[in-house]
Amino acid sequence: MPATIIDGAAIAATIKDEVRRDTALLKERHDVTPGLAFLLVGDNPASRSYVRSKGRACEYVGFHSHTVERPADCSEADVLEQIDAWNTDPDIHGILVQLPLPDHIDENKVINAISPRKDVDGFHPISVGRLVIGQETFRPCTPAGIQELLLRSGIDPSGKHVVVVGRSNIVGKPIANILLQKAPGANAIVTVAHTAAADLASLTRQADILIAAIGRPRAITADMVKQGAVVIDVGINQVPDASTEKGYRLVGDVDFDAVKEKASAITPVPRGVGPMTIAMLMQNTLHAAQRTVR
Ligand code: GUN
Repeated sequence: MPATIIDGAAIAATIKDEVRRDTALLKERHDVTPGLAFLLVGDNPASRSYVRSKGRACEYVGFHSHTVERPADCSEADVLEQIDAWNTDPDIHGILVQLPLPDHIDENKVINAISPRKDVDGFHPISVGRLVIGQETFRPCTPAGIQELLLRSGIDPSGKHVVVVGRSNIVGKPIANILLQKAPGANAIVTVAHTAAADLASLTRQADILIAAIGRPRAITADMVKQGAVVIDVGINQVPDASTEKGYRLVGDVDFDAVKEKASAITPVPRGVGPMTIAMLMQNTLHAAQRTVR
């Protein structure tokens, strides 16, 4: 039987509606409007498109948002100065520096400069540390969205073998740590696989829940997936397609057409994990604003 398709766009829309409702309450009760600041450095088209989508989501849920753009050759000091200004601005509750940054800017230095109280990306070492030891914190948006997708689809990771392919700071490491916690909605047995695995398929075939965050189009093929597994595809890859207006289309890290015949549930690309990242950013920013009145 083909897999259930997990509709990330629909689940993200529900979460954004919840944020919109709670934002209205925060305004009504405390006269606080959540504010999110974006810093976009350079002219990477994908980054520009992500920031635009995030800005539109802010508008929908009722936040004010502010985007500052800097040229690719701007100085690191300039970036740090902007972050400093937002750290002390009471109207800004969340700060997001769109990654990647140009090579001459030290990404770690920039992440470290963001106040942990405004770290709605969950990338600051304090946020990461709190996540690892199970304390409440801002959780990175894509992995938080993956957990939410599972739970809202009735899939409880407790006791399941989760295999994560990819070890990035943005997805692989945090999703492993989120699902490993001894906590409701988590409590999984987690394996993190990556490019150094001699036999990747022997690891992925053990997964009850397989999370692909590799960045290579259709790298997970049907023979790498156990019958009945849940498959979460984090990949967003452009592949040439002359039949489209743009000359390319988006595919995930999973060979969707073949794997959907074997999996019990699977996320599509697009409309799977992608929209959840934005929804969770809205949720994190709302929480940051709510904390200022508690
Ligand atoms: N680049 C790719 N994903 C992300 C993200 O979640 N946050 C930021 N700031 N940059 C990214």
